[in-house]
Amino acid sequence: MDTGLEQVQQLLIKYKQEHVLDFLKRLDPIEKDKLIQQILSIDFVQLSSALNKVKHQKVVDIESIEPMEYQRLDQFTKEQRDMYAEEGWRLLRNGEVGVIVVAGGQGSRLGHEGPKGTLDIDLPSGKSLFQLQAERLLNLSNRAAQSIPWYIMTSPENHDATIQFFQSHNYFGYPKTDCIFFQQKTMPAIDQQGKLLFSSPSQINFVPSGNGECFSSLYHSGALEDMKRRGITWLFYYNVDNAIIKAADPLFVGFSASFDNTISTKAIKKVDPEEKVGVLCLKNGRPFVLEYNEIPDALLQQRNSQGELLLGLANISIHMFRYDFIEKYARHKVPYHVALKKIKYSDTNGTIITPDEPNAYKLESFIFDYFPFAEKTTVLLAEREEEFAPVKNKEGADSPLTARNQILNLHKKWLADSGVDLAKLGLQDRFIEISPLLSYGGEGINEGIDKIIKQQGMK
Ligand code: UTP
Repeated sequence: MDTGLEQVQQLLIKYKQEHVLDFLKRLDPIEKDKLIQQILSIDFVQLSSALNKVKHQKVVDIESIEPMEYQRLDQFTKEQRDMYAEEGWRLLRNGEVGVIVVAGGQGSRLGHEGPKGTLDIDLPSGKSLFQLQAERLLNLSNRAAQSIPWYIMTSPENHDATIQFFQSHNYFGYPKTDCIFFQQKTMPAIDQQGKLLFSSPSQINFVPSGNGECFSSLYHSGALEDMKRRGITWLFYYNVDNAIIKAADPLFVGFSASFDNTISTKAIKKVDPEEKVGVLCLKNGRPFVLEYNEIPDALLQQRNSQGELLLGLANISIHMFRYDFIEKYARHKVPYHVALKKIKYSDTNGTIITPDEPNAYKLESFIFDYFPFAEKTTVLLAEREEEFAPVKNKEGADSPLTARNQILNLHKKWLADSGVDLAKLGLQDRFIEISPLLSYGGEGINEGIDKIIKQQGMK
């Protein structure tokens, strides 16, 4: 027997995965070799410790949790706003700011064919999420006279389709060399008995293992080295499905750099105690995100003396990481969270079984699992309407429709704030979309009004 197979057999026996031998037995030599390589790539130690966690789910100790300090954007004076924005612009001009979008998720709730970033949320312009983001970044790059490197994390499932989409849209005008695509890690899906699942008889069902893979995947792909070579000192992080994201927001960049904690984060107020969002807090004195289902009941409704929710800082996945922090923790493994999901699988004959009920565990790490490694986090509380329009579901809340309406309402507000008289222009009943190339955050509306009006109705 060859040594690869022997090694694999030992591994499978050690980690109680003998059922894999039934798959191996039936394969021709080429396929068998492929499967062996897949098995050897699995970190069984991490896998077992994640499964152990399922058996020993710990309840969060209330005593360990405290609210986190934050600053409110709406209470900044004009001088403060200008000062932080100017610092942000200085870093952008210096080429010290990179941006990372995590776009490796499966988007299973949305059910869109293709990578989530390719989604058209039905704006009048027909722009995809990726195009909106590219144009916002281009706006800043043009004004800073310095192109912002854009790191795009994909997964093996959507990597090629993502690149093809960028290519077929000519990178939305973004410099091709500043779009750095890299793939994230995956982990096998496992059934409730802890057995590896297959997607075909020769293929283990590897699924993207969470946005927390981004530091290690930046490192392993060479993208981290690229950041170093370019002299990036801060990385702006966001989710691909936030349709309204102010990527590389100069004010937030400058704010983060001014306080110089290794992580800073933008938060919004949780609307009601039951809202399904994670909250920023301190756990044992360290920065932490409590997921909505982990918040102890006793804390969920609790309010402070101002009547605000004690744990009311909703995490919206907008962060700034200092480069040295990423470099320090890129090789540091954080334990996986385990979630029970409906996952299709193959038997040894290649028959695909589609479960009706959740049947298998998906292992994921989250970017905020790295938060406790930071001594302190700088938090900026901002306005939901301007910062957060998630596209998670096909319909209802957090859907393409809610995100589209939020963008159009914001643009309407920009017009009103700039004193544009829509009635006089005969446009009072219309939604007006403003290209990110013309305005990043509501500036320059009056100067650009002719162009804005000309662009309406263009698809
Ligand atoms: P979500 O947790 O909302 O997951 O991701 P999702 O895959 O987009 O959607 P569902 O849960 O399957 O419906 C939040 C962000 O993290 C990214 C997503 O692309 C999204 O930007 N992500 C998620 C990754 O980059 N990799 C992952 O493995 C998971």
